Amino acid sequence: KTGLFTYDAGFLSTASCKSKITFIDGDKGELLYRGYPIEELAEHCNFLDVAYLLKHGDLPTSEQKIDFVKIIKRHTMIHEQMAKFYQGFRRDAHPMAVMVGVVGALSAFYHEAEEGFLDPKARNVNFNRIVAKMPTIVALAYRYSRGKPFMYPRNDLGYTANFMHMMFGTPCEEYVPNPVIVHALDTIFTLHADHEQNASTSTVRLAGSSGANPYACISAGIGCLWGPAHGGANEACLKMLAEIGDVSRVPEYIKRAKDKNDSFKLMGFGHRVYKNFDPRAKIMRKICDDVLRELGLENDPLFKLAKELERIALEDDYFVEKKLYPNVDFYSGIVQKAIGIPTEMFTCIFALARTVGWMVQWEEMVMDPEYKIGRPRQVYVGEPRRGVPPTRRPE
Ligand code: SDX
Repeated sequence: KTGLFTYDAGFLSTASCKSKITFIDGDKGELLYRGYPIEELAEHCNFLDVAYLLKHGDLPTSEQKIDFVKIIKRHTMIHEQMAKFYQGFRRDAHPMAVMVGVVGALSAFYHEAEEGFLDPKARNVNFNRIVAKMPTIVALAYRYSRGKPFMYPRNDLGYTANFMHMMFGTPCEEYVPNPVIVHALDTIFTLHADHEQNASTSTVRLAGSSGANPYACISAGIGCLWGPAHGGANEACLKMLAEIGDVSRVPEYIKRAKDKNDSFKLMGFGHRVYKNFDPRAKIMRKICDDVLRELGLENDPLFKLAKELERIALEDDYFVEKKLYPNVDFYSGIVQKAIGIPTEMFTCIFALARTVGWMVQWEEMVMDPEYKIGRPRQVYVGEPRRGVPPTRRPE
């Protein structure tokens, strides 16, 4: 089953599927990956530890970690034909459009994706391959958009440091990653790795329930994540801060956010499930402070504006009453901006991390003995027409 649909108060709602991967208690603001609190994982593990945990159900032993890292390092390059694929896009194409295309085409380059899902070896190959290649695919989208030379992966660097090398390095000199920034970005990956049955994960599950190959399903998830109400919120949040421009204009935007007749929403605030602080946002807030301090940006006007917006919103009756707290996207956009990642790349970074969760959720679904194609139903609200249709005109 990919989800039981029930008819409730005029809306179809997913009663949700069975899963052992991630647990959220929205009222308590609790998030667990395979039973471990996100706070512990963010504190004591790196992203590849978490990727292994989500995939295999346990944190890796030191030997398992060594093997896993070795496999990942062996798959970081992409097919040279695939690198040429980018040339078909306009330079100013939104990188998420490129990601939908390039990831969707992965199965055209790596045939295991088409092989039967029942073979755990093929599933492991598919998982390791896309986890290894996503940083390269994302970095190439950025490099291509800026007319910069593609940077090959470096196996002497860790997963996230290598991503930063491919994003910001140049062939002219060795890239030396800042450990504070690497840690911040690696933690952002961990915080975004999975989140139960959110819109994009449900998209991946529904696409996968037809038997489509995992890379095609991930591409569908990327398309869904792109939306500003979902993964695109961090990009939309930075655009909103730029539009507000000055602390003096914050009350005007808070007023707009409360106006039922105004479609404006405060980007980076609110959540369908969390009616308490998003635990990821609390961790992101500290990362945000660490990065701004490391880069000497504590007094940057944009970041001071963000802090003022957060303060006012947290005190405002409307936001308090509706339990609208800053969510993970509010802070992740600020951190990425401070690191020098362009806003249009923010959701690609989210997709890089969430690919782990999407792949694991897809696998859990296809391995469910009750697995069959999802088939949402509807409530028909159109007018039934009776009688003979009007005579059809000849073409
Ligand atoms: C992500 O599902 C996931 O897990 C997603 C995610 C993940 O990891 O996959 O956590 C990632 O998508 C985080 C959310 C990022 N989106 C944004 O920051 C966009 C801004 N947020 C809103 O669009 C909104 O909060 C949603 C879409 C996230 C949730 O909207 P809901 O489901 O309507 O939230 P709700 O039912 O709790 O809203 C209660 C009320 C509503 O008003 P009423 O109908 O009661 O009058 O609060 C209002 C909403 O209209 N409201 C807001 C608001 N968010 C909700 N009002 C102003 N500003 C906001 N940001």
